[in-house]
Amino acid sequence: RPVVLSGCQPSGQLTMGNYMGALRQWVNMQSTHDCLYMIVDLHAITVRQEPKILQQACLDGLALYLACGIDPQKSTIFMQSHVPEHAQLGWVLNCFTQMGELNRMTQFKDKSQKNVNNINVGLYAYPVLQAADILLYQANEVPIGEDQKQHLELTRDIATRFNNIYGEVFTMPEPFIPESGARVMSLQDPVKKMSKSDDNPNNVIGLLEDPKKLTKKVKRAVTDSDEQARIYFDVKEKPGVSNLLSLLSCATGRSVEALVPEYEDKMYGHLKSDVAAAVVSMLEPIQSEYHRIRADQTYLTHVMQQGSAKAQAIASDTLNKVYQTLGFVQR
Ligand code: AQP
Repeated sequence: RPVVLSGCQPSGQLTMGNYMGALRQWVNMQSTHDCLYMIVDLHAITVRQEPKILQQACLDGLALYLACGIDPQKSTIFMQSHVPEHAQLGWVLNCFTQMGELNRMTQFKDKSQKNVNNINVGLYAYPVLQAADILLYQANEVPIGEDQKQHLELTRDIATRFNNIYGEVFTMPEPFIPESGARVMSLQDPVKKMSKSDDNPNNVIGLLEDPKKLTKKVKRAVTDSDEQARIYFDVKEKPGVSNLLSLLSCATGRSVEALVPEYEDKMYGHLKSDVAAAVVSMLEPIQSEYHRIRADQTYLTHVMQQGSAKAQAIASDTLNKVYQTLGFVQR
């Protein structure tokens, strides 16, 4: 079965964006792929994190993975920092990446504009660590959204460069773009993606959001001001309404095409009420499962330990191969 690898950053509470763009697909992929899912804590520290909050966010993220249906019997679930090979291969790959390549990364440009006081080397080299994450497990497929295409391209360039010099060490990863890989947009600014580290909580629906607060946020979401307040899907002309329709589609499991005719004579307010109700009822079982799992630290520790042992067995094989290839003396 093809190997697939992905992860979320513990840089805040996971959002409906992470759910629609990642977690929901990850759950489905368990029946067709060998899946490795991480909490990418090493990536999260490219932006300053409060230690206590980071620790909670890692454990919350892990419990949410499980609550959403990622099954530790089927998938390898682990904390990135528990497998030191990520940082080790990351270093090696730094030496096979040109600064010119990293200078072109648009995410670095965006993130460094947001963090003008902390434009650190880690933020710059982030895509190289991501390449190490993927290549360590010889992943065949990487589920990615539009915004990650450039990083996967870089991973492929680094792997090609290394393989051209030393022979076939790394498997070439392919992008896996999910069918309904809709990007969830910010509620107040629907041309911007919904991000867990957004400073304005009104932009974001957290997976652990209280139902009342969630409903308020959705009701306040920006819709589009055109003369006839018609409800149809058009990301360019109607970004706010289209975002609400995508959310409704995700939460109800019905296609946008099937939903739109039902709103022919209805107002934005109707759509918003329906979206809020559907998201609340979709999240209800996830939240109750989350609370059950999150309270069981012994179980979480067991899952992490089992996951990192499985991951490390694969990662250390690749790293050894790379070290030997480079000519490092064996211990
Ligand atoms: N708004 C979104 N719509 C669809 N997919 C999304 N993803 C994130 N936001 C959306 C997908 O979730 C996975 C994990 O993302 P990540 O945590 O590694 O980093 P990110 O993409 O930078 O997510 P955030 O929420 O925006 O985090 P911050 O605020 O820390 O930068 C990825 O597969 C991503 O595509």
